[in-house]
Amino acid sequence: MADMSKLLIQARQAAEASYSPYSRFRVGAALLCKDGTVVTGTNVENRSFGLTNCAERSAIFSAISAGKNEFEAIAVSTPDSAAAVAPCGACRQVLSEFVKADFPVAFAGRDQSVEATLGELYPFDSLHDLKNIRSG
Ligand code: THU
Repeated sequence: MADMSKLLIQARQAAEASYSPYSRFRVGAALLCKDGTVVTGTNVENRSFGLTNCAERSAIFSAISAGKNEFEAIAVSTPDSAAAVAPCGACRQVLSEFVKADFPVAFAGRDQSVEATLGELYPFDSLHDLKNIRSG
């Protein structure tokens, strides 16, 4: 079982590297890999706003680039909000490429922390539906 509290602390540390001069909203992600290592990521904004990359996808793309593609859990920290902020739809979709519905996702702001699964955040996943269609 992944230690989600520890992973949230690592996500909080990752938020320190955030490049977010436009939103001033720092986000950090910590992705626990099956080999026991943790790959972190942060949000990287751009003056062309649509090019911004979220912390979650930064972590996933770093892990894949490092040859790690099996994951245990992810934690996301948003220290500039009191409430917990859940991963955006794009990040849920990208996560769903690599993990199953029972994958643990924790997210926390300063005063609130939530633990969920990817299946709860992203039901009716098209990748799994496609697999069912192909095998059925
Ligand atoms: N952001 C993330 O990094 N992850 C999310 O799940 C939500 C949004 C970033 C994108 C942008 O840099 C800032 O938060 C404000 O939207």
